[in-house]
This record gives sequence, structure tokens and C-alpha cells, in this order.
Amino acid sequence: MGVRVCVVGKGGREHALAVSLAREADVVVCPGNQGMELLGVTCSDTPPEAVEADLFVIGPEEPLVDGLADRLRAGGKRVFGPGADGARLEGSKAWMKELLVEAGVPTARHGSFTREEQAISFLRAMDPPYVVKTDGLAAGKGVLVTEDRSEAEDAVRRYMSGEAFGDAGRTVVIEEGLYGRELSVLAVCDGQRATPLPPARDHKRLLDGDAGPNTGGMGAYSPVPDADDVLVERVMDECVEPTLDALRRTGVDYRGVLYAGLMITADGPKVLEYNVRFGDPEAQAVLPRLGEGLLELLASAADGSLRVEPNVRDVASVTVVCATEGYPTTPRTGDPIEGLDEVVGLPGVEVFSAGVARDPMGRPVTAGGRVLAVTGLGGDLVAARDAAYAAVTRLRWEGMHFRRDIGATF
Ligand code: AMP
Ligand code: GLY
Repeated sequence: MGVRVCVVGKGGREHALAVSLAREADVVVCPGNQGMELLGVTCSDTPPEAVEADLFVIGPEEPLVDGLADRLRAGGKRVFGPGADGARLEGSKAWMKELLVEAGVPTARHGSFTREEQAISFLRAMDPPYVVKTDGLAAGKGVLVTEDRSEAEDAVRRYMSGEAFGDAGRTVVIEEGLYGRELSVLAVCDGQRATPLPPARDHKRLLDGDAGPNTGGMGAYSPVPDADDVLVERVMDECVEPTLDALRRTGVDYRGVLYAGLMITADGPKVLEYNVRFGDPEAQAVLPRLGEGLLELLASAADGSLRVEPNVRDVASVTVVCATEGYPTTPRTGDPIEGLDEVVGLPGVEVFSAGVARDPMGRPVTAGGRVLAVTGLGGDLVAARDAAYAAVTRLRWEGMHFRRDIGATF
């Protein structure tokens, strides 16, 4: 003990980081949320710039894109998370695609547009499915994948006029549709080298059977049986390392997580997107699989001298996100949460608070679209899944929604 870590953010991912790091350090989450506090995590409203800590771990993309890591480093702090230059990978899809093409990283063919007529004529020359993305951040909602060209054209108009996503949509990226299974590979980078965490698979759609709209993520599992070490090595060789090299050539010293969102196609892995942070809910599935050593892993990457590999335990995890009615568009909040006491402390179960507040009596109530992430651990995915759902079915609130097929589709 004695080492102090500040985790920046307020969701389930940051709660998972706090729990894992708390085995080796004193942790404060800024700002965190009231549900984390209920579950024993220290939270603080102090701005991160004013916090004293030996290591800062920045969770969400917005502060990274906004230059929080740069400001902290300028103040002499040790930070795990890229500066604004590297965070542009997530902050601008057009820039990210340019870098990938230059680095020779496999990715969908694309065009970037700032003029509507050009975007529409590019779209008309493509085959379905049509993929239309905002250039800028849109909280995971700026991507449309559709078979219907008029829907795609309509999206182009709404994005580019600023109507749908403000300035984030004024530049659009239109891509070829790729087929395959998706995979998330999160690599810890120190500017020069990268080491992968165990891969995970996210379930992005709202409803069972991958139906309904895209969300921030309804659940995840790890390991992924169809993603063996050979595939992960290929992702590192063909995608992550060339990207890190290309970043370095442009003067970017990338220290943090480089999260490759991949489609495993018949021609091999292709990068759909990069995120510049841990995934949510992938972090809630992957971090509980790690044993001691996360602190050293992140601290050494922050120092630019990665010297350890992730310590992966031989357990499987399944994380189920419990959301509110109306998520992802108009989440209903303020409903009392029942059963939380019952599930906290169940063996093989970890509960992470994403959107929980306390009512005036101190009882937990829903406070966001994604409320809790419940991770089950077990000797294999079946056992992990059973543990997760045994806990989830003890939780209740008005309009609670979760998928019943997380980790069942491997
Ligand atoms: P992104 O935020 O770019 O990862 O896109 C969100 C989701 O849209 C991905 O997880 C995929 O399910 C889907 N998607 C994005 N790009 C493509 C593509 N080129 N082909 C097929 N599906 C895609
Ligand atoms: N689970 C997807 C993401 O974190 O972007």
C-alpha cells in the first residue's frame, strides 16, 4: 500500500478499474458515482488536476480527446492514457482511417466527406450494407449500418447538416460493409511497445439475438473461443503494432490502451475502429480475469517502459449489463433498485455500478441508462454465465432490461 491511484470517470469501467487496482493501491475515483461509494469505493468531486496521486488512469474518451492527459503530464503527473494527439484516433474517424491506410492496416474501404453531394454519390456507387459514420464523437450512436440506401442517404443528410449530432457529423465517413464476427483486442501501450490483454467480445445490440439498435454495449465475455493466441498475435502484428509505429512517425507518444474493434473476416482481422481507452463493458469482463500486477503494468506503460505482461488467470468471465427502460434513447431513471445487497459478495460474482444514485434515505436508485454490470467468473464460459445470470435474476427495478444471451452465442 501507500501508492495512490486516481481513476478518472464515472461508469462501470472505472468501477472495474478501481476494484482491480485497489488490490495493490489506494484508489480514488474522480468523480465516480454514488453506487460505487455504496459498494465501498472512495469517490471525489475534486478535479483530477487538483488530486495528488502517483498514477492517473483516465477512463472515458471525452477527457482524453480534450487533453486531460496532456494537462496532467504538464503538471508533472504520471498518466496512463494518450494525449489529445493520440486520442484523435477516436476523436476523428476520418483521421483514424487515413492513418490506417498509411500504416497498411487492414480496414474497410472508405471515403471521408465534407460535401453532401459527394457523399451521396459515393454511397450510390457502393453495394449494401451501407455504413455511415460521424467523424467525431457521438457517444457510440454515430454509426449506421443498413441495407436500405434511402435510410443511409437520409442519415448522410441529417449528419452533415448538424441536425443529428451537431458538429461531430459535419464530416462523414462512408465504408464498405464487412462480414464476420467482431472482437475487441485491448492492447496496453507504452509509446513503443504493446502487449495485449485477453480478447473479449462485446454484444452491442440492445436485444437478444443481436436485434435492435446499437448501444454502448449490453454485455461481454472473455476468453473468446474463436480468438486463440495465433489470432491475437496476428492482430498485434498486422494492426496494433503498425498503428503504434505510424503514430510514432507522426510524433505521437501513445501511452495507454489502444482498443482495436475488429471484424474477423474471411480475409483475416480488419479494424472497424480504434478506441483510445478500455472498453465498457469489456473492462468489466477482462479486468476480473487478471491477477496481481495491473498496477505495475499500467504504471510502467505510463513511464514509457513496459516491463511486464498481463497476469491472466485461468478463469472465464461473462458480464451482463442491466439497463433501464428506454435505454439507449430515453432512459428512465429514479427507480429503486432491489436485490443489490443480495448479489454483492456472492462467490464468483462482481457487481459494478455504472448509473446508480442514492435516494434521500441512502437507498440505491437508477441514475443512467446502463445501471449495473454484473460479472460472473467460472472455470469456463458456461459456469461464468451461470454465475452472472444467477446474480442478475436477483436484481429488480421497474423497467429493468438485460439481454439473456450474453456469452451464449460463442
Ligand atoms: P464503430 O463504432 O465504428 O465500431 O461501429 C459500431 C458498430 O457498427 C460496430 O461494432 C459494428 O457492429 C458496426 N460496423 C461498423 N463499421 C462496420 C463495417 N464497415 N461493416 C460492418 N459493420 C460495421
Ligand atoms: N463496448 C464498446 C466501447 O467501449 O466502445
